[in-house]
Amino acid sequence: MSNIEKDLQAGEKPAIRIKIAIDGPAASGKSTTAREVARRLDYLYIDSGAMYRAVTRKALDLGIPTDDDDAVAAISADILIEFRPNKEKTEIYVDGHDVSAGIRLPEVTRAINPVAANRRVRENLVARQQALGKAGGVVMDGRDITTVVFPDAELKIFMKATAEERARRRLRELEAKHISAEYDAVLKDIEVRDHADVSRQHGPLRQADGAVLIDTTQLTFEEQVTHICNLAREMIDDLSQSDDALE
Ligand code: C5P
Repeated sequence: MSNIEKDLQAGEKPAIRIKIAIDGPAASGKSTTAREVARRLDYLYIDSGAMYRAVTRKALDLGIPTDDDDAVAAISADILIEFRPNKEKTEIYVDGHDVSAGIRLPEVTRAINPVAANRRVRENLVARQQALGKAGGVVMDGRDITTVVFPDAELKIFMKATAEERARRRLRELEAKHISAEYDAVLKDIEVRDHADVSRQHGPLRQADGAVLIDTTQLTFEEQVTHICNLAREMIDDLSQSDDALE
C-alpha cells in the first residue's frame, strides 16, 4: 500500500511528499547518504550519475567514441534506463539488461567527461530526471539537480568535503572491495573530475541559491543522514502548517 493510500485509510490528509535535491563533487558521500535518507523517509532514490554512466556504457559497448557528440546524443535520446529497486539496493537496467556493475567500471569513469559535457545529452537526461521526480517523494543526487533539474525543490543540499578526505574515503571503499589503489592516484582522479564538473559549460557543479551547505569532512555518515532527514521533516512540517493556515 502506498503512503497516500495508508493516509487515506487512516482518514488523514495525504502527507506532503517533497523533492530533496542533493549536489556535490565526486566521492563526497552523496549517493550513500541520499539512498539512506530516501530509505528512512520511504522516498524514491534516483542516482542521476548512473544515467550519465548508462549512456557512456552503451556508447562503449557499441564501439562509439564518447566524444562523438552526435552519436552519443542519439544514444541518450533512445536509451531505455530503468531503476529497479529491491530490498538491498537499486539495480540499473539499460535496454532490459542489468548494468549495475558495468556502469561502475573504471573504463566508464575514464570515458564519461565528454558525455557529461554534451549539451543534448544533458537536455535529454534532465527531461527524464524531471519526469521521474515531478510527483515528489524523491531524493535525487548529482551535480546539477539543485541548479537545473529541480531548482524549485523544497529542500536543496550542497555536500562538500576536502579532496583529501574524499580520496581517503574512496580508498577505503576500494579496499573493502579488495581493489588495490594508490592514494596519490585516487586524489588525482578526484581533482581531475572536480575540474571537469565545475568548468563545463552546461550544468556545471555549483552551490544553488537557497541550498544548505553541508561540509561532511568532519561528519560521520549517521550525522549526515540524520541532519538531512531533520531538515526534510522541518520543511514538511512548515509546509503542512502553511497548508492548514490556507484552509
Ligand atoms: O555521481 P557519479 O560520479 O556517478 O557521476 C558520474 C559522472 O556523471 C560524473 O563525472 C559527473 O560529472 C556526471 N554527472 C553529471 N550530472 C549529474 C550527475 C553526474 O554531469 N547530474
